[in-house]
Amino acid sequence: LKVLLINGPNLNMLGKREPEVYGSRSLQDIVETLQVRADELNIAMSHVQSNAEHALIDAIHNAYQKVDFIIINPGAFTHTSIALRDALLSVSIPFIEVHLSNVHAREPFRHHSYLSDVALGVICGMGEQGYGFALSAAQQHLSKKTN
Ligand code: DQA
Repeated sequence: LKVLLINGPNLNMLGKREPEVYGSRSLQDIVETLQVRADELNIAMSHVQSNAEHALIDAIHNAYQKVDFIIINPGAFTHTSIALRDALLSVSIPFIEVHLSNVHAREPFRHHSYLSDVALGVICGMGEQGYGFALSAAQQHLSKKTN
């Protein structure tokens, strides 16, 4: 099973960036922990982080017919990017949208997502744990398909 983890803009600043909102762990810490979890679940997980919308779109296109599942924290592109939505639809790979913070408890402009209605599910407000939940959900989803 192949899972692609995608983190969007400013998530490279985790640990430094508004730690009261996003926690004190770096993206590298988070990905390392998740990689251990993925190994345990027999999932081959790859990771891409970019601040550039086109790089995220390219990563999604490159996943076409190569990746079984996408876990994506699109950062602020959640609230702005029809292009990211279209990219995810274009590869028809099931995905879960993850946010560290509870976007619904924050500014109104964070309440709308261009991805949520086409996602398999959305996890928000659970901090780093949300990625782990998404990974378990991916595994469950994919095992249902092959059994
Ligand atoms: C975020 C929430 C977004 O609104 C914000 O722009 C981010 C991070 C989160 O993980 O909580 O960059 O996706």
